[in-house]
Amino acid sequence: MKVFLIGFMGCGKSTKAKQLAARLECPVIDLDAVIVAQEEKTIAEYFEAYGEASFRELESRTLKTYPYPDICVVATGGGLPCFFDNMEWMNENGKTVYLHMEPSMLVSRLHNRQKRPLIKDFDDEQLLAFIEKKLAERDPFYTKAQLIINAFDLDAETLEERLE
Ligand code: S3P
Repeated sequence: MKVFLIGFMGCGKSTKAKQLAARLECPVIDLDAVIVAQEEKTIAEYFEAYGEASFRELESRTLKTYPYPDICVVATGGGLPCFFDNMEWMNENGKTVYLHMEPSMLVSRLHNRQKRPLIKDFDDEQLLAFIEKKLAERDPFYTKAQLIINAFDLDAETLEERLE
């Protein structure tokens, strides 16, 4: 089983992916980290050098060509499910879990904005407006996930139980 964790920036995908992988005793794959290692650039540097459209193609290609082990937990970038047929591809190739979180909670968790090119210049008020708008656009994609979980206060044990 491959588990794809999806959701907005700051909802805790990377942390939850690590915790779940530890419980399942399987590898964890963070697709943003795969791109950073492969390109030898941070995501911010990649956006700066080649722009968002190029990043979307690269993350989609990475999603579909990564040599996944049979059992693994995959943390995806926040925008990945909303481009090309990535959401359908994940639904066909694994179990998809949407970690849902309210915009105000996301704002309070997104401290390190510099490393996220889409939000790097925003103060809290601007960020809240941005998240509300983006979530409205992205929710139709995110909610195609097979499992939708309220990410607030979610522990890895509960996540594992819900996957069964
Ligand atoms: C993005 C989310 C980021 C990263 C890039 C774009 C997005 O990943 O892929 O900055 O469009 O929401 P995280 O969700 O891991 O921060």
